[in-house]
Order: sequence, then structure tokens, then C-alpha cells
Amino acid sequence: MDKLGTVVVVGGTCDIGKQLAMHYARKGHPVVITSRDPDRSQTAAREVGGDCVGLSLDLFYPHQIAGALDGVDDVQHLALVALFRDENKVREYNIDEAIKLVTLKLVGYTECVHVLSSRMREDASILMFGGLAKDQPYPGSTTITTVNGGVATLINSLALELSPIRVNAIHPGQVADTPNWANKPKEVLDNLKSRTALGRLVTIADVIHAAVFLLENRGVTGVNLRVDGGRMMK
Ligand SMILES: NC(=O)c1ccc[n+]([C@@H]2O[C@H](COP(=O)([O-])OP(=O)(O)OC[C@H]3O[C@@H](n4cnc5c(N)ncnc54)[C@H](OP(=O)(O)O)[C@@H]3O)[C@@H](O)[C@H]2O)c1
Repeated sequence: MDKLGTVVVVGGTCDIGKQLAMHYARKGHPVVITSRDPDRSQTAAREVGGDCVGLSLDLFYPHQIAGALDGVDDVQHLALVALFRDENKVREYNIDEAIKLVTLKLVGYTECVHVLSSRMREDASILMFGGLAKDQPYPGSTTITTVNGGVATLINSLALELSPIRVNAIHPGQVADTPNWANKPKEVLDNLKSRTALGRLVTIADVIHAAVFLLENRGVTGVNLRVDGGRMMK
């Protein structure tokens, strides 16, 4: 049997990234996960199991990404999952926090692609994580809305430049079983659910299912996929 290629999950120490890493470790792929913290990356790699290695990488410092990913090779799938939660309202604009998120997702994600593109298999794929805030802003989402919109358009030029490597983006709605939402008051959650066609929030399992589809379907590139339970009601 042909050797399975490496799956790299940038931001793989918890929640969605860690579950995605577990999915591919269980399937027998070599997996690389990253964290800002070396100890956290080692602990999470052990918890992911299989042939999983943890690396230390901070997307706030894009010039250091090449060194951090040195040695990662034969890449089949690259998932860019990492996040910095910037709550920024324009009247109280915090420039430093905004720069962190813009750097992390737009420059940091792109630099990971740049560094690894020459070490990817011809039929490799890349998945970038944006989010529903690109279409559904809320007070405080100024940077998040901007950055998720940037992810949605960035994939188009990358898909063209890197073909036949495929590049897609996923835009989850509020993911019910991530810590950010699991602990919100019932009224907040009920209000969000009432605004979806399905009457429920999506789960990590829903997001992983869609992520695997985008990573593996050989006919899909340049696609922005919303996974939001049908968030059509205001
Ligand atoms: N959860 C939701 O409801 C939701 C909704 C819409 C979109 N999304 C998107 O889905 C993705 C995953 O969300 P999540 O809730 O699973 O995120 P999360 O649990 O907060 O995980 C974030 C990951 O990013 C890593 N990270 C944080 N700062 C970093 C930095 N400066 N450099 C490198 N890595 C860094 C963290 O690792 P360390 O802390 O170990 O460094 C962690 O592994 C994100 O891109 C998010 O925008 C999530």
C-alpha cells in the first residue's frame, strides 16, 4: 500500500484542530500539530495519538514560521485552524489586538502555505478556517469580519497559483460544543438557535465532516463553505 501523506494542523491543540488531527491520526496518516507553546504541543500530540508530532509555532511572528516548519515534508493536507479572538469595536479601536489577528490569519496562514507549498504532494489540499462573521457581523467583530472576508478571497488566488493543489475555506457558525459557546447563557444560545433554519447550532463533528470533504474531494477548489445550520434568519 502507498504511504499516506502527512497532515499538518496549524493550531491543533484543542477543539476543532485537535479533533481534525485525531481524525487523520486514526486513519493512519503521519500528523503534525502546532501550538505556540512547546509543552502544550507535545501534550496534545500524545493525546492525538498515532504517529503525531507536536511543533512550536507562533503565527504572530511570520518570519519565524519557515524555521518552525523546517523538517515537515510530504504534505498531503494542510489545515490552518489557529485563531486569536479579537473583540474590537471601531470607536474603541485597539490597534495592537487588530494587528495580531490580521497577522495571524492573513499573513501567518499565507506564510505557512508559502513555506510548505514546495513540500506538498501534487494532489495535496489546503483548508483555511474563516467564520460566519464574514457575513454576519456583530458589535466587536470589526477585525474578525475583515479577516474572515480576507480568508474568503485569499483562497481564490492561492487556488489559481498552486493548482493542481486545491485550496478551500470553511466558515463555521457558532460551534455549540467549543468552550467559547458551550458556557454561554441559555438565552444567548436559544436566540442564536432560533436564527438558524435547523433550529440548532453546529457541532465540532459537523465541522470536521465538512473539513474532511473539502480536504479530500478531488473536484473542489476555491470554495467557501458555510457550515452554520442554515443561518438565514437575522
Ligand atoms: N469555535 C467556534 O464557534 C468558531 C466559529 C467560527 C469560526 N471558527 C474558526 O474555527 C477555527 C477553530 O476554532 P476553535 O474554537 O477550535 O479555536 P480554539 O479552540 O481557540 O483553538 C485555537 C488554536 O489556535 C492556536 N493558536 C492561538 N494563537 C496562536 C498563534 N498566535 N499562533 C499559532 N497558533 C495559535 C491554539 O494553540 P495554542 O493556544 O496551544 O498556541 C489552538 O490550537 C478558528 O480559525 C476559528 O476562527 C470557530
